Amino acid sequence: MAPMTRAPLNRRLAPFGTTIFAEMSALATATGAINLGQGFPDTDGPVEIREAAVRALREGRGNQYPPGPGVPELRTAITEHQRRRYGLSYDPDTEVLVTVGATEAVAASLLALVEPGDEVIALEPYYDSYAACVAMAGGTRVPVTLRPDPAGGRFVLDLDELRAAVTDRTRLILLNTPHNPTGTVLTRDELAAVAALAVERDLLVVTDEVYEHLVFDDAEHVPIASFPGMRERTVTISSAGKTFSFTGWKVGWLTASPELTAAVRTAKQYLTFVASGPFQYAVAEALRLPDAFFASLRADLAAKRDILTEGLTAAGFRVYRPRGTYFVTADAAPLGAQDGVAFCRSLPERCGVVAIPNAVFYDHPETGRTLVRLAFCKGEAVLREAAERLARL
Ligand SMILES: Cc1ncc(COP(=O)(O)O)c(C=O)c1O
Repeated sequence: MAPMTRAPLNRRLAPFGTTIFAEMSALATATGAINLGQGFPDTDGPVEIREAAVRALREGRGNQYPPGPGVPELRTAITEHQRRRYGLSYDPDTEVLVTVGATEAVAASLLALVEPGDEVIALEPYYDSYAACVAMAGGTRVPVTLRPDPAGGRFVLDLDELRAAVTDRTRLILLNTPHNPTGTVLTRDELAAVAALAVERDLLVVTDEVYEHLVFDDAEHVPIASFPGMRERTVTISSAGKTFSFTGWKVGWLTASPELTAAVRTAKQYLTFVASGPFQYAVAEALRLPDAFFASLRADLAAKRDILTEGLTAAGFRVYRPRGTYFVTADAAPLGAQDGVAFCRSLPERCGVVAIPNAVFYDHPETGRTLVRLAFCKGEAVLREAAERLARL
């Protein structure tokens, strides 16, 4: 047989190999280490929501292709949620699209809204699918780096750097707040400045708000769509995975103007068309859970954050206390680490814990060279054990 002269993987995707998550999870399995690498909870979400999915399956709701935009019950529940929490009104028929997790919402948005050659600004470090999706859309990624504020120990957005990153080719800003992996929650002032820039330069904003309910202390999640001039230029994305601890259901959604929704739906219908029929009915019920559910989720995770951050601090890390998400970013430099990737590869052997090196979330890996990310969406006993193990360092 003649040898193949062309590489199987196309040029757009060639830079994207196996993710670090696969490598680190395999390491966790091989060494029996506590896996704080990947961000999924170790307990399932509310039993009544699980039962709602079972009921839908039994009653034959969603077992066949659901409607392309999502089942009406879920679309209505999404609009009620946006109104109740944020005072934002959307039409369930023309301004909502149910997707296969937030991941598909991001992918379909970029495929629909970006022309080859368009520039897409993303906050660095960023969630790993963003770079691949911008590449698949033929866009050019323009990172704007979040940097630790020496005073507050928080990663902040440099608004001058953001302004300077906008060119005549910029199509959109891909925002993520609360932010994975830094745990930063963009403030009202920061969001107002991003919004003003988007209006001034006629940019779209695609905003990934999957951690909207996971905010702690006095932090407040504010959707950028609520700022003047933004509703018509923003695609707001969220998902049931993080809020309700059902990451395997992959039910996500977006809200946007009819024009933007129709554009994204055009791409989405040729990716998956639809998915997760019975789960959509269950997520509709989840979105209507009382405020007490969301408050207890926050309190539970804040307590877990404290266990892990105290453990990391005691072990000698420089900890950036997250105000949102279920991740903490910590600097291993005070422990003598010079390279986070090598540090994370050695960590299971040294103390039986798996973390992720933040360098993989950067276009400028030197900026996050000694930073590591750990997830605290695990049982308190697991986190206490992890803290004890880290103390061995
Ligand atoms: C910022 C961010 N966006 C999207 C996702 C994926 O969401 P989903 O599972 O709903 O596709 C994650 C999961 O880790 C994430 O951290």
